[in-house]
Amino acid sequence: MSAIATATPQGHIEVENFSLSYETIDGLVDAVTNTHIHVKPGEFVSIVGPSGCGKSTFLNAVAGFLRPTTGTITVDGERVSGPSAERGMVFQQYSLFPWKTVRENVEFGLKMRGMPRSQRERAARTLLGLAGLEAFEKHYPEKLSGGMKQRVGIVRALATGPKVLLLDEPFGALDAQTRVIMQQILTNMWQRLKISVLFVTHDIDEAIFLSDRVYCMTARPGSIKAEIPIPLERPRQQSVMMSSEFLALRRGLMSLIREESLKAMGGEINDLGMQGLNIELHGHSLVEVL
Ligand SMILES: Nc1ncnc2c1ncn2[C@@H]1O[C@H](COP(=O)(O)OP(=O)(O)OP(=O)(O)O)[C@@H](O)[C@H]1O
Ligand SMILES: [Mg+2]
Repeated sequence: MSAIATATPQGHIEVENFSLSYETIDGLVDAVTNTHIHVKPGEFVSIVGPSGCGKSTFLNAVAGFLRPTTGTITVDGERVSGPSAERGMVFQQYSLFPWKTVRENVEFGLKMRGMPRSQRERAARTLLGLAGLEAFEKHYPEKLSGGMKQRVGIVRALATGPKVLLLDEPFGALDAQTRVIMQQILTNMWQRLKISVLFVTHDIDEAIFLSDRVYCMTARPGSIKAEIPIPLERPRQQSVMMSSEFLALRRGLMSLIREESLKAMGGEINDLGMQGLNIELHGHSLVEVL
């Protein structure tokens, strides 16, 4: 185990026939149904979808916090049966220990695993350096900005050397400027560490800018409506967001999500504007287009 991953990409996520229903006092709530996805080793994949469609449910199941009602989740062929240091998770809410310094927060998982002090200090410092946080290692979370807290959260999730990083709207609470910086930092760390990333976001621009592929979910109960490859060259600059290729992807994704949001509300739409896009629909036809 190492805080800085090896040169070979790892973290092949495969989800087959996944469904999850919550038991409530009013009966079963079907959150996600019949979902298949995969993330290749070293790939950056995002999930977008209308509000309440089951994105967090799905990600929490991949993390091992929730058990599927049906189906299987594997990482590098091993079945997910509970949380593991091999799958790092970052939440929208900052989940740092307020009584620990930045470095102690990052070291926490390593300490729990019995790594000697000098080794874990070195690992934490290396990762904090990658995230531009070396000057803040002795600070307590309350002294940090939202962007810094979330950077520490990402570093902490990476410290135990996971194969997979799962992020649930990690930048949702940040202002637009900080968000852009965070996207750049996350991209740099992902490329450096060569792990797989599964990233949930409401922000379509963010999903396209960061990802190799984007899955779009249907309204609840969520399933995969479409899979959209993002063929934009890397490294990507912010200016790519003005390109016709980016704008076409954006238009397509917006149409898909709008269609689902309206379906959830019982509405209809006419102007899909998706012609010419390489969108693979997963059994949910876009009647107006196809
Ligand atoms: N613990 C729970 N018990 C019962 N129902 C739940 C529970 N957690 C979530 N749900 C329901 O399951 C559905 C999916 O919720 P989930 O939070 O996964 O969606 P989401 O896509 O992440 O939503 P958002 O876009 O608001 O983040 C919703 O209808 C939600 O109300
Ligand atoms: Mg959510």
